[in-house]
Amino acid sequence: MKKTAVLIVLLFSSSIHAQKFEGLALTPPMGWNSWNTFAVNIHEDMVKQIADIMVSSGMKDAGYEYVVVDDGWEAPSRDSSGNLVPDPNKFPHGMKALADYIHSKGLKFGIHNCAGNTTCNGFPGGRGHEYQDARLYASWGVDYLKYDWCDHGTADAHETYKTMGDALYAAKRPVVYSLCEWGSSKPWEWAKDVAHLWRTTGDITDCYNCQGEYDLGMRFVLKLQDGLEKYAGPDHWNDPDMLEVGNPGLSLTESRSHFSLWCMLAAPLMAGNDLRKMSPEVLSILTNKDALSIDQDKLGKQAYLYMDHLSKLIYVKELSDGSWAVCWHNTGDQPYIQRINWKHFTFLKGEFEIKDIWKNQVIGTTSKNIDVNIDSHDVLFYKLTPRK
Ligand code: GAL
Repeated sequence: MKKTAVLIVLLFSSSIHAQKFEGLALTPPMGWNSWNTFAVNIHEDMVKQIADIMVSSGMKDAGYEYVVVDDGWEAPSRDSSGNLVPDPNKFPHGMKALADYIHSKGLKFGIHNCAGNTTCNGFPGGRGHEYQDARLYASWGVDYLKYDWCDHGTADAHETYKTMGDALYAAKRPVVYSLCEWGSSKPWEWAKDVAHLWRTTGDITDCYNCQGEYDLGMRFVLKLQDGLEKYAGPDHWNDPDMLEVGNPGLSLTESRSHFSLWCMLAAPLMAGNDLRKMSPEVLSILTNKDALSIDQDKLGKQAYLYMDHLSKLIYVKELSDGSWAVCWHNTGDQPYIQRINWKHFTFLKGEFEIKDIWKNQVIGTTSKNIDVNIDSHDVLFYKLTPRK
């Protein structure tokens, strides 16, 4: 009887054991994705130009690596063998040629599809074709798969995403696997062994305070991350969705806040703007070294909300070298003036040097309280380093 019970447990645990390429996302993945600016209006020339600019602008050197083509790349149906086909008008040279181009720039290639029967825009989804699609992606040189959740019927998210994960693993080409089921089935509770990252909310849109039926302004996406910090770490990240930095619905201040807060959250950083039209100010936000080093810190801690009072949020993130990142954010319409009394930050043991990240300046130490003024929707973003 006992032996049977052990056998059942063993069988059960092996049936839910997922296979994943380990170590591909020890820090949050960085790159660019077509969706936030272009939706389905994509073309291989545009994607190649974006890859060129990722290199020439210095974004690649700053750590941006994946160029991801989102929904809209496919022809309306599979071919007679059941293979996915790229839209011949948008990608006349096919996806392998595009991947080769992106690889020739020292970058990596990502693609989107959906775990359901069709994508959210009605193109063929992967359901029932997982192993065939994974082999095709491997033959094209895909390095990153974003897998959506439209038209999934009554399918179980864990089972369905695991099937595609196993298929990718069986195809033997290492792929970062990015789940996009909008947090519906709490993937942070089960996806760690299946994928490298998982979306935690519905879609972000390029505004600060708005809320639609399916999309949310960055402020609302931010609030939905509270409490999820314990689920993130090297190779398994919460994904609060791609960046709207530099997109028209956010002011420059809001873009800077968005970027600072996503770095605090150890979020995957997928730029979502048209890099070809990016201003120097937007580029300098996306490539700020201190902000990126906080996002990419190898300890892999996601910031937690240390204080939430009226319109004031304070996030705190522990870093691998004994430093701390602290970010104040003003969600209100008026500036606020604040005295920072370092004694209230009880996690700080000893004296720390304060670097203001956006001023790019060391402004003193935690031995003295300071008065600050934070504009509406702005941040104060500090790195605190222990004094020797
Ligand atoms: C949504 C997803 C978006 C985008 C879109 C494409 O479900 O959250 O990021 O991929 O589908 O149709």
